[in-house]
Amino acid sequence: MIRLIRPYISFAEVEHDMRRMFESGIFTRGEHVEAFRDEIAAYARAPHAFLATSATTALWLCLKRLDIKAGDEVVVSDFSFPATANVVEDLGARPVFADVSLDTYNMLPEALEAAITPRTRAVIAVDAFGNPTGMNKIAEICRSHNIPLIEDAACAIGSSEDGKPCGSIADMTCFSFHPRKLLTTGEGGAITIRNPDWVDWFNRKLSHGAQGMQGYGLDFVDFGYNFRLSEPQAIMGRAQLRKLDAIVAERNEVRDACIEKLAPAGFVPQQIGDDVVFNVQSLVFKVPDGVDRDQLITQLRKDGIETTIGTYCLSATTYFRTQYDDVQPNAELLQRTLITLPCYAGLDVDLVCERVLAAITLSECMA
Ligand SMILES: Cc1ncc(COP(=O)(O)O)c(C=O)c1O
Repeated sequence: MIRLIRPYISFAEVEHDMRRMFESGIFTRGEHVEAFRDEIAAYARAPHAFLATSATTALWLCLKRLDIKAGDEVVVSDFSFPATANVVEDLGARPVFADVSLDTYNMLPEALEAAITPRTRAVIAVDAFGNPTGMNKIAEICRSHNIPLIEDAACAIGSSEDGKPCGSIADMTCFSFHPRKLLTTGEGGAITIRNPDWVDWFNRKLSHGAQGMQGYGLDFVDFGYNFRLSEPQAIMGRAQLRKLDAIVAERNEVRDACIEKLAPAGFVPQQIGDDVVFNVQSLVFKVPDGVDRDQLITQLRKDGIETTIGTYCLSATTYFRTQYDDVQPNAELLQRTLITLPCYAGLDVDLVCERVLAAITLSECMA
């Protein structure tokens, strides 16, 4: 089976640091956690970064920083993983679903403008599959309305728009280090922010509310949580961050080769702005008209190629449809018509594309 993903890390790359970590007995709050945090900030050209247990806890904490609560509205991109809206729901606020572009899959500026009401307290805009196309425009709209922007860059480490890396565009940005991402620590995440006045607050809240020492103990100046990334995770993260730009370049080569072979048969790739560096977190195509996407996935699995859907129309999930009955048409169409193909260096692109092209000629794959 040709798998959908393959991690960009081997044991050999972390062996030395892992051995030293075991010898030292320091598994948390060690030198690698500190270094990884600083390296993420430098890579994202963000003034401040924090490590977290996942993008979900990172997003949730950013909303807490903004004091989002019952009665508030948060505009969210409607084509994403449910975590993007779940964090809003969890705080008792209302996620207002903004539809996305059928080309870039990112929040439409006009949908954002239409979704803003006097109760809007924040916007969470997603870099769909790592693509930041249009994020600067979304940031500009948010600034003009004086509404804070949280960039859900769960998939977007290594991407940039207009020379600005993800992590430097929005007021707050959240990354994921889940294994489906370019850089993985098993689970894990990070936050970047611009406001220096929030640094102590994030440090405290990520770590039980502690700030400084009181005698031999910690000084718990606030209540807080434990959303800390651990030392072995930081070792893994650092090993991948060093080669991230090369990973992005390799993935783009695979993407270009697949587009060349599949576009003539009607597969439409995700559109990327001219000024965008795209990390290709997922290699996604709209299937040709007349092809049944689910049947195509089934057929390819039989043929030894693992593929999957794109992502979810949040407003159409069973939970959010029942809660709000506000399904957005573009996101709903994308949920039904996108396919994610394998993407990594060393992939046999010819074989994958050959099997995809053969599958769509079969009557089983016709809509
Ligand atoms: C856009 C988006 N946001 C948030 C998340 C949640 O990330 P995590 O698994 O790190 O909590 C994901 C996970 O796939 C995602 O794709």
